[in-house]
Amino acid sequence: MELTLSVIKADTGGFVGHTEVHPEMLEVAREKASIAVETGLVIDAHVNRVGDDLALILTHEGQPNEPDIHAFAWDVFQATTEVAKRLGMYGAGQDLLSDAFSGNLRGLGPGYAEVRFRERPSEPVIVFLADKTEPGAFNYPLVRMFADPFCTAGLVLDPALQDGFEFEVLDLHEDQAIRLSTPEDYYPLIMLVGAPHRFVIRSVTSRAKAEPAAASSTQRLSLAAGRYIGKDDPVLVVRAQNGLPAVGEVLEPFAYPHLVGGWMRGSHFGPLMPTSVPDATPARFDGPPRIIALGFQVTGGRLIGPRDMFADVSFDRARQIALEMADHLRHMGPFEPHRAGLDELEYTTMPELMKRLQPRWHPAGGTKEVAT
Ligand code: F6R
Ligand code: MG
Ligand code: MG
Repeated sequence: MELTLSVIKADTGGFVGHTEVHPEMLEVAREKASIAVETGLVIDAHVNRVGDDLALILTHEGQPNEPDIHAFAWDVFQATTEVAKRLGMYGAGQDLLSDAFSGNLRGLGPGYAEVRFRERPSEPVIVFLADKTEPGAFNYPLVRMFADPFCTAGLVLDPALQDGFEFEVLDLHEDQAIRLSTPEDYYPLIMLVGAPHRFVIRSVTSRAKAEPAAASSTQRLSLAAGRYIGKDDPVLVVRAQNGLPAVGEVLEPFAYPHLVGGWMRGSHFGPLMPTSVPDATPARFDGPPRIIALGFQVTGGRLIGPRDMFADVSFDRARQIALEMADHLRHMGPFEPHRAGLDELEYTTMPELMKRLQPRWHPAGGTKEVAT
């Protein structure tokens, strides 16, 4: 059968501060999700959270951007916002940027990744949910999963993977997109997506099967006044096995943490720490940034699972390394490169500071070369 897997997330209030979602909010979302299954709006639904972000994982027969599905998600987020307001949660309704729903969620605040595919006889899918980071954080693991034989052995061992993958990359500065195919475009791909604040991978497609392999949420990324705004805690869906990377190859890039933007005040770099679902509660300096991996077998559209993939002991060392990286970076305090560069700060006192200091600047006498 052909179906759509929609992962839709929003921060509708944090418990305490920006660290967690209150259990009553999850309960309300789960009640609404069971009604949506009972009434046949969706085939199946799973509700989860990472840090202060609540995620709806839905299977249905509609298309991506299906108005009924997006309206349902909007309704759930309104309901969890009501609970958040009643309990005085922090930043209640934070990601709901508009008062009115108008057809789909685009531009309204929630982020979503949607993949439409014909279900295989067995359909393993991994849903990644991340907090205190941004969509470019998936560039590195996606390149490793789908293009790096040092990570994905199948690229050299399995004939079904040898045609490689097509990456759809957004250029946030120029509002344009490009499709690059590996292995032949491997170097240009890395040149671009190695700069995750400008170039972001939106989707990956199997060239041999001409089928979607991965999709990430990028809705809130847009360029305003020469810099991009709308950094958003992202989600990623990856299909696995049988002509696609194996589950273990999909998880392997997270075995050694990479640095991502989005920690404290969206203005610091830190390691992306893979954790179990219960440990996805970023507390130290509002972090370090977290990622969880929910494994499902999608069977007749039903979400069999999830398995908490990063709960496995084989990720204990990654967590240890991430904590050591976090210590190292935290020692730098407000200095770059722990603090993000001036162009990437989510909010900054710089303009006011420069105005206030304006009368105190004087010629430096020699720092600028004089043209002769
Ligand atoms: C980072 C994040 C938090 C907040 C910080 C300040 O993405 O969500 O680190 O930026 O707690 O929050 P406010 O400005 O709401 O006090
Ligand atoms: Mg929040
Ligand atoms: Mg968040």
